[in-house]
Amino acid sequence: MDDRQLKKLVLYYSLEGNTEFIAENIADKINADILKLKPEKEISTHGFMRYFWGGKQVVFKEKPKLFPFDKNPDDYDVIFIGTPVWAGTYAPAFNTFFDTIKLKDKYIALFCCYSGKSSSTFENMRKKLEGNQILGEIGFKDPLKYDKEQNANKVRQWAENIISKIKK
Ligand SMILES: Cc1cc2nc3c(=O)[nH]c(=O)nc-3n(C[C@H](O)[C@H](O)[C@H](O)COP(=O)(O)O)c2cc1C
Repeated sequence: MDDRQLKKLVLYYSLEGNTEFIAENIADKINADILKLKPEKEISTHGFMRYFWGGKQVVFKEKPKLFPFDKNPDDYDVIFIGTPVWAGTYAPAFNTFFDTIKLKDKYIALFCCYSGKSSSTFENMRKKLEGNQILGEIGFKDPLKYDKEQNANKVRQWAENIISKIKK
């Protein structure tokens, strides 16, 4: 398939900017649209309590209400999906997303940011994305804090490789 005919979207959630940084680099490199999941009630980014409130949302499988999307993911052929790791899995904004939008027959690539490890994040996302073709996954350790430029270059190259897999 010709790259110019592919409709590309980068869909992500980010509380503290790391996943956003990666998402913006992908979108810039492959010329994709961007859709950020935004909970109506966001937890505070300051202090240790964010781990408590965020962790609680994961444990109780909460589905925070999101602001309406300005793009319809179903209009796209390729979707890069990115999340920070929260309590070993994807952030609760994706509980809401996966509950409302059923993606099917899409090319998907997954990315995440973490401070320790990706744990079950990709595995759990893959389960929610059955019926799609997962082309790859990549994780970054707090990229705003460590090797920012190196990580930007790494993800840009990765995104280009993902797109070239589709073109073949
Ligand atoms: C509520 C909460 C839970 C977290 N749980 C984990 C975790 O289980 N494992 C981990 O490696 N990092 C964890 N982190 C750290 C973030 O995944 C990491 O800092 C990430 O880069 C943040 O991405 P963001 O800046 O896009 O929000 C957690 C952060 C928050 C706020």
